[in-house]
Amino acid sequence: MTNPTPPFVSGALPLVGHALRFSRDAYALDRRGHAEHGDVFAIKLGGKPVAVVTGAEYNKLFYTQTDDALNIGDVYTFLKATFGEVLFMASKESYRNQRPILQAIFSRERMARYVQAMQTEVQLWLDSLGEQGEMDITAEMLRLTQHVAGRAFIGAEFRAELGEDFWQDYDALSRAIDPLTPPNLPLPKFRRRDRALRRIRETLLPVLAKRQQHPERYDDLITLLLEQPQKDGTPLPKETIIQLFMGLLFAGHETTAGQAAWTVIQLLQHPDYLAQVQAEIAEQVTPGGSIDGGVLRNLKHIYWAIDETTRLRPSAPMQLRLVERALDVGGYTVPVGWLMRVTAATSHHQPDVFADADTYDPLRFSPERAEGSTFDIIGFGGGLHKCTGMNFAKNEMAVITALIFQQFDLDLLTPNTKVITGVGANRPSATTLRYRRTPQVESTPAPEAVLVA
Ligand code: HEM
Repeated sequence: MTNPTPPFVSGALPLVGHALRFSRDAYALDRRGHAEHGDVFAIKLGGKPVAVVTGAEYNKLFYTQTDDALNIGDVYTFLKATFGEVLFMASKESYRNQRPILQAIFSRERMARYVQAMQTEVQLWLDSLGEQGEMDITAEMLRLTQHVAGRAFIGAEFRAELGEDFWQDYDALSRAIDPLTPPNLPLPKFRRRDRALRRIRETLLPVLAKRQQHPERYDDLITLLLEQPQKDGTPLPKETIIQLFMGLLFAGHETTAGQAAWTVIQLLQHPDYLAQVQAEIAEQVTPGGSIDGGVLRNLKHIYWAIDETTRLRPSAPMQLRLVERALDVGGYTVPVGWLMRVTAATSHHQPDVFADADTYDPLRFSPERAEGSTFDIIGFGGGLHKCTGMNFAKNEMAVITALIFQQFDLDLLTPNTKVITGVGANRPSATTLRYRRTPQVESTPAPEAVLVA
């Protein structure tokens, strides 16, 4: 006897199915589906049925069946027009071939250097703010995360090497991401994308050439992409290096910017927990001192806050796959040709996994409580395609949080920041903070330094 297919949420309209409700408020739709049918249900986007699953067991199945019964690349075809066949947009074979390079990019030793780049750029940004004023933290994080990525991946000279227009061109790529429209229609946004792609190529080719001519002078991401062979021993073609570089910026930019802004906003919304974070910063982060792996390891309350923001305000609140081989899930069978999806709307709010699940409570991630297992949280994905930039993003958010609260008193002037949803990552609506620089207590010089002076 074959299983039935997952039951549909009520309220589908003729032709469009749940598409309107989904685009208006996907969280509400998923929660209704869960209330009606439990951990496995279905929605219809236009004519396309989508099975939606909740909870560690089914999320794990979703991630471990990716590249087997479930296909990741074909649901992101709209990204290929911009970034080409790289990362999760590549075929299974190309992905496996590129994978050692992805791992090398985020090795422990490289991460140590990325953290230095993060500190430098965050400090430059904080220094540029002056003594007091107001800022939109959402917009500031979008710019800051670009500069961090520039310095981390291209090096200290990234401003000169990438030039003034690079980020505008990058923005044109970002704005042309559109899952619904064929990517080669003669629309202005696609023409702007193609012009931007040509200019980015013209900017990056000389950057590659300089590193090829003088590899001894560079030790950055581009050099690594030029030197590190793929799994089959062949080097990455230059065009692929450019695509991979742009793909990495894209995967990591708006996602990190949104969650970094939310981390700060949610801390300001919860002064009791913020006080614990500030005490930790005062104890662990020396004013003017260097932030390295040792310091980061001690910023436990900050990382719990980052995890709680990932749970409650994820930038990537759902992930999608195409079903290539029928899958049995919770007494149902999801047929070939359906889509399948995991969702933070329900997985991140399971009442039997997270105490008082809708409440902000970072201490739930402390070792004493340790709520939720690896597959209960889907904010950075899971399995083979789990976000390779996760530690980069978390460390960046930790450095931003530590330094901004160390050096400024902040007031939240926007009372109700909203989640903005769209084609790309979720992000907070514009949120104004008033800031005032706090006097920094200089660290006491070590006795030897006094003697030398
Ligand atoms: C808060 C910030 C970030 C969030 C929320 C996030 C989220 C995610 C998620 C959910 C996936 C899995 C997609 C899927 O399974 O369909 C993913 C994959 C990926 N992310 Fe991130 N990401 C973040 C930051 C970054 C950064 C900073 C980078 C790089 C600098 C990055 C690079 C990647 C790459 C390369 C993949 C593909 C991994 C693979 O297919 O093997 N991400 N990310």
